[in-house]
Amino acid sequence: MCGIMGYIGYRQAQPILLNGLRKLEYRGYDSAGIAVCNGQGITVRKKQGRIEALEQQVASQPLLGTVGIGHTRWATHGKPSDDNSHPHTDQSGAFTVVHNGIIENYLDIRQELIEEGVAFASETDTEVIAHLLAKWYDNDLVAAVKKVAGIIRGAYALAVMCEYEPDKLVVIRYASPLIIGIGAGEKYIGSDIPAILEHTRDVYVLEDGDLAVLTKDSVTLLDVDTSRPVQRELVRIEWDKEQAEKDGFDHYMLKEIHEQPHALRHTMTGRIDEAGGMVVLPELRIRPDELRQVEKIYIVACGTAYHAGLIGKHVFEHLAHIPVEVDVASEFRYRKPLYTPGTLTIVVSQSGETADTLAALREAKRNGSRVLAITNVVGSTIAREADEVMTTNAGPEIAVASTKAYTSQLLAFYLLGIYFAQGKGTIDDQERATLLQALAQLPDQVEAILSHADKLRQFADAIKEEQQLFFIGRGLDHAVCLEGSLKLKEISYIHSEAYAAGELKHGTLALIEEGTRVIALSTQADLHEKMVNNITEVKARGAVVLGIALDDNVELHRSVDDVCLIPGTLPLFTPILSVIPLQLISYYTAAALGNDVDRPRNLAKSVTVE
Ligand code: M6R
Repeated sequence: MCGIMGYIGYRQAQPILLNGLRKLEYRGYDSAGIAVCNGQGITVRKKQGRIEALEQQVASQPLLGTVGIGHTRWATHGKPSDDNSHPHTDQSGAFTVVHNGIIENYLDIRQELIEEGVAFASETDTEVIAHLLAKWYDNDLVAAVKKVAGIIRGAYALAVMCEYEPDKLVVIRYASPLIIGIGAGEKYIGSDIPAILEHTRDVYVLEDGDLAVLTKDSVTLLDVDTSRPVQRELVRIEWDKEQAEKDGFDHYMLKEIHEQPHALRHTMTGRIDEAGGMVVLPELRIRPDELRQVEKIYIVACGTAYHAGLIGKHVFEHLAHIPVEVDVASEFRYRKPLYTPGTLTIVVSQSGETADTLAALREAKRNGSRVLAITNVVGSTIAREADEVMTTNAGPEIAVASTKAYTSQLLAFYLLGIYFAQGKGTIDDQERATLLQALAQLPDQVEAILSHADKLRQFADAIKEEQQLFFIGRGLDHAVCLEGSLKLKEISYIHSEAYAAGELKHGTLALIEEGTRVIALSTQADLHEKMVNNITEVKARGAVVLGIALDDNVELHRSVDDVCLIPGTLPLFTPILSVIPLQLISYYTAAALGNDVDRPRNLAKSVTVE
């Protein structure tokens, strides 16, 4: 996730671009850049770091011109650096582009261009676009952009500026957001509404496949495939400034919960080779023979990332037949784990900066273990120090309570597990096809659950005065319960316990009394009967139970007080779906209590102390 800003009009572009980028910083902030065109050419300035670093760079020598594009980056391809920052240009500097998204086939395109003699200035996927534009330009920028759109594959929003046609901007959208703001004698582009709200409230929201040509006086919208004009409704934005930054949601947490379908698609992008039906992870350097030698895995992480690791254990053991131990990072480093030459350590961290996880990584490396990091932040300390990095590409997570990072971590584990299983031959072609088909459906299924959020809001209203709550489940469901319980405690401050359902009767059942609220997960068909027994045990002591199960479970409603049904998927993949109602329940409970949902008491987003 990155932020794009653009302007064409009669005022100086630089201050408008910088202001817009500041509003988009929540989308990424490891580097920023602007390009301005003034009829005599295009000038680019870009800088690693926050937008202030770029502002300082241009303060003494402002870029003059009334047309420009800008970008704030969240690195996916290539570490944060001046060179990898956007805008990118071709070798002549005549074509300039900013991009949000991922170009899946950039490696092949890059190789071809290198063979044709093109010298690359960055490690990014985006730069191929600038070189392709230069290659295919024949006095018609729109035609060149259309040609390039037919070559690149992936998810993108692009804004293009060309020295030879200085009075226009061309933008295109495919699976990454882009809006156009309308003013009198000036037009704006932005990844999101806050970027342009101080200038105009009238916007076009582009749809996939829309190409727009902007001059200061006009906007022409075309379908990129057919070149036919398309009509989009001019929308009047009534949000206030704060609402706009949260995309109309009351809190970042709710926004991030709703971003999960998009984040999951992003995590998957470029990692499934549809032709061969295989998982491809070009970012990993581990060779197939080394992969086959992995005989034990330690998964180490904190908090929510640790809970993702608990699911990772099931994935690796089930698919790749590799035994896994999962550890809380603050415990792992002091327990003297046994390393063998075949031990792989996987550390999981959204921020990539968590002190305990970093210390565990260093400890594992000191003991000779290869370390693979699953992280959301390219260029973070954990990403830099690990031997292998798999990024989750969920986009920046602002709310302290982790939501979209968790589901993206789960997806990363599924992809890794299938990748290892493929390499070791522990699944056959048919099983792999079934797994990949089910994976591809998950984003839409999450969307379906989110569309029924209201029921969970009512449930949250009913539990907000409770003093305690229990989450029960077995196997994978128990691991999801741990995450649901953490989420509820963290933001609603209601005490809760996540219990392995079969373990209750060994002591904790004593806490169940008349009216105690219990959330029971039962998504695993082979464990369902046992779960019903455990539900019956708590109900017999007066518990009020909300059951969460797959939509083909026609029996559960007989055993519980209320049910929340989620779409059916393979047993291994249910956690990505069953956690969504739990996230929503926590959010709505905390919001109903009037808590500071995004910044809960006593906590911080990135825990850089041990
Ligand atoms: O950045 P990390 O993933 O390493 O952070 C680990 C935990 O601090 C984090 O997941 C924490 O538990 C969340 N606030 C939970 O919502």
